[in-house]
Amino acid sequence: MKKLTLFFLVVLVGTICGLVFVNSPFFLDSNSRSHPASGDRGMVVSQEIIASGVGADILAAGGNAIDAAVATGFALAVTLPQAGNIGGGGFMLVHLAEENKTIAIDYREMAPAAAHRNMFLDKEGDVDNAKARFSAQSSGVPGTVAGLLYAQKKYGVLDLRDVLKPAIRLARHGFKVNADLSDSLRSRYQQLQKHSATQGYFYKKNGAYYLPGDRLVQSDLGATLARIEAYGADGFYKGRSAQLIVEQMQRSGGLITLEDLANYRVVEREPVCGSYRTVSLCAMPPPSSGGVHLLQMLNILEGWNLHKLGHNSAAYMHLLVESMRSAYADRSLYLGDPDFTPVPVDQLTDKKYAATLRAQTDSNKARRSSEVLPELDNWAKQPVESNETTHFSVWDQHGNIVSNTYTLNFPYGSGIAVDGAGFLLNNEMDDFSSKPGTANAYGLIGGAANAIAPQKRPLSSMTPTIVFNSQGEPIMTTGSPGGSTIITIVLQMILNTVDFKMGLAAATAAPRIHHQWLPDTVDYESGISADSLRLMGQMGHKIGDAPRIMGASQSISIERGRLSGAADPRRQGAGAVPQPDGL
Ligand code: DON
Repeated sequence: MKKLTLFFLVVLVGTICGLVFVNSPFFLDSNSRSHPASGDRGMVVSQEIIASGVGADILAAGGNAIDAAVATGFALAVTLPQAGNIGGGGFMLVHLAEENKTIAIDYREMAPAAAHRNMFLDKEGDVDNAKARFSAQSSGVPGTVAGLLYAQKKYGVLDLRDVLKPAIRLARHGFKVNADLSDSLRSRYQQLQKHSATQGYFYKKNGAYYLPGDRLVQSDLGATLARIEAYGADGFYKGRSAQLIVEQMQRSGGLITLEDLANYRVVEREPVCGSYRTVSLCAMPPPSSGGVHLLQMLNILEGWNLHKLGHNSAAYMHLLVESMRSAYADRSLYLGDPDFTPVPVDQLTDKKYAATLRAQTDSNKARRSSEVLPELDNWAKQPVESNETTHFSVWDQHGNIVSNTYTLNFPYGSGIAVDGAGFLLNNEMDDFSSKPGTANAYGLIGGAANAIAPQKRPLSSMTPTIVFNSQGEPIMTTGSPGGSTIITIVLQMILNTVDFKMGLAAATAAPRIHHQWLPDTVDYESGISADSLRLMGQMGHKIGDAPRIMGASQSISIERGRLSGAADPRRQGAGAVPQPDGL
C-alpha cells in the first residue's frame, strides 16, 4: 500500500514537473546540448495523456525512445481511436544518439493488388467521393503493426511483450473516456452508426455515445493485440486477424486479400535533410511530400530577413504564403511514391532552385495561383473535412529521439471496423490522385505521379521532423496532424523557434496561417491581427472567410540540457509526460 502511495506521489510530482517544463523558456541557440543533463529523464508528448504516460513508464522501465514510442503508438490505438490505429499507417523518424544517425521508417499503407487507376471514377468519369472516402475500397493495406514492430525489433531494447502489455491492458480492462473522445464520437454518430461492428465497438448497447468518465472496454481489440504479442507481425498479417480483415472486406466489398496482407512491406528510407540559417533538420522523404516541401519553403524563406519583418506581420505572412504557393504547386506535379515514379527530391530541395522561386516573388504583391502553374484548370473547391491524424514525440535520457506521425486519414478512417478484430480501417486510398487535376479531401491536387496503382503508397503530407543545432546535436522534434496543413504547421514551428526565438510553448500556441496553391486562399487561425489580414488583402491575397483551427503539434525541445515538452493546446486530452523515477 505504501509503495502504491509512493508511486502515485512520484507520478504526481513528475506530472507537475512536466507542466513546468512545458512552460519553460527555450531558445534554439548554438549552446544547446542534445543529451539531457545528468539526472534528467526522458519525455513523451502525444495527443492523449494516458498513452503519453504509457511511453513514459516504458522509459522508466529501461526502454529507450523507440520502445516508448512503440508502446505509445499501440496505446493510442486504444485510447485515441479517431486517429491512433493498427488499421492505418504512418511514418517514424528515429534519431539514434550513439551512431548520430537519423533514419526514416515508412509504414504507409499500400494499395491492394486489385486496385487500379480509375477505381474511384463513376460512369461519367468523375470521382465518386463516397467510394474513395467511406467505402471498404477506400482502405489501403494497413502498415502500422508492421512499422511499429519493425522499429521495436531493430532499434528497441525491451522484449516486445513488455512494450505491448499496456495497450492490451487498456483494451481489455478499459479506460475512462475523456471529453475529446466523447465529443468526437457524438459528432461522428451519423457516419459511424452505419456500420454495425463500429457501432458495437464505439457506442453503448442502447446506441448512446460514451460520456466523459465512462469506461470503454475493447475486448476484440485486446484479443487482436494479444495475437500480435504472441506471433509478432504474423499475428496481424496472417492467421485469425488476417482472416477477419478479409472476411470484412468480402462483406463490405473491399479489395484487401490474404495475399495483400502477407505482402505488406515496411521500407527504411534515408530522411531528407537540409539546413536553414543556424540549424539543420531531417524530415520524412517521399512517399511523404512533407520533408521535401518543408525544406523547399525554408530555402526560399532563408533569403529574407523574416525577424525584421515581425512575427505574423502582413509583410512576413505575405512571404510565407508566396513560398507555400510555390511549394504546393510543385507538390501537385512531381510528388508520388518514389518506388513507382522518380521524384526530383534533390532539385526541389536545391537552394539554387529556391533562389529562382524567390526571384519570382514580389515583396508587395500577391501572385495568382493560376499564374504559378496554369495548366490545371478543372480544379473545383472541395469541402474541408475535419481531420484526424496524430503525432507523438519521444526523447530518452540517452538522446535517442522518435518523431512519429500516423493516421487512418479521416477521423475513424473509413468508419468501417473489422468485425471480431475490434479496430477501424483507414481510408487512405483517397490520398491518391483519383483523377489528375481533381482535388482530394484536403483540396490537394495531384497528377500522374500520384495515380493509383497496385502496391503503390499514396502521397502523404505527414512531416515528422527533427531539428539539429550548428554542432549537429538534436534540439527539437515536432510534427502534427492536419492533412494538407501539416507541412506549413511544421514550417511555422521552425520559423517561430529559429527566426523569432520563441519558447516551445509559445511557438506551439502562436496562431498559424496556411496556403496550398489551390484553393488560392489564405487560411488563418484566430489571433492573427485583423489589420495584418486587411493589409494582405490590399496586396492581392484572398483571405479565408473565417478562422479555422490548424493541427495539433506534439513537440519536445532541449535547452541547456533540459527537456521541454509542448502538447498542443488546440486539442483537449493531449499531454507531455516526463519519465517518472524508477520505483
Ligand atoms: O497522409 C496524409 O497526408 C493524410 N492522410 C493525413 C490526414 C490528416 O492529417 C488528417 N488529420 N488531421
